[in-house]
Amino acid sequence: MQNYEIQSDDWARLAADAKPIREQVFIQEQHISPEDEWDAQDAIALHFVVYIAGQAVATARLLENHSIGRVAVLKSQRGLGLGRLLMQHIIQLARQQCRPEVKLSAQVHAIPFYQSLGFYVEGESYLDCGIPHVDMRLVFES
Ligand code: COA
Repeated sequence: MQNYEIQSDDWARLAADAKPIREQVFIQEQHISPEDEWDAQDAIALHFVVYIAGQAVATARLLENHSIGRVAVLKSQRGLGLGRLLMQHIIQLARQQCRPEVKLSAQVHAIPFYQSLGFYVEGESYLDCGIPHVDMRLVFES
């Protein structure tokens, strides 16, 4: 992947780039309601945006409780390795910050994506916003 850059910053700095991606992917494509999509965690999370040639194409956030969420790549940019690059960047940062683990609530269709990054499934699947999810975790070796 050439010409890509990943920025991490707070919501005030990255909302202008992250919001349109989440709007397209979660609200328009996956029909998640705006009330569910925009929550109080955005204000206190660390946000990530991937840029290709200056265009914001993917985003995610990392919470204080080591939870990664809102992982989204624009439809036109999927299957190119961007999601993997973004997740690897977040995992590396979490390790540098000496976090013990990272975890997430994965949409069931994305289980193989997260498994390929080292996450394992915990427990049974459940519905969140009408979409089947499962908890996944990647524990760092000390
Ligand atoms: N199901 C199964 N495998 C998947 C997958 C999916 N939905 N998405 C990606 N993969 C696999 C790829 O085949 C690839 O494997 P390979 O390296 O062996 O070829 C690997 O995961 C990395 O793929 P990559 O190109 O980096 O993924 P991506 O950039 O398309 O991003 C998502 C993956 C899930 C983030 C992206 O599809 C997306 O934004 N989906 C809509 C929003 C969403 O569902 N987010 C997840 C919420 S939990």
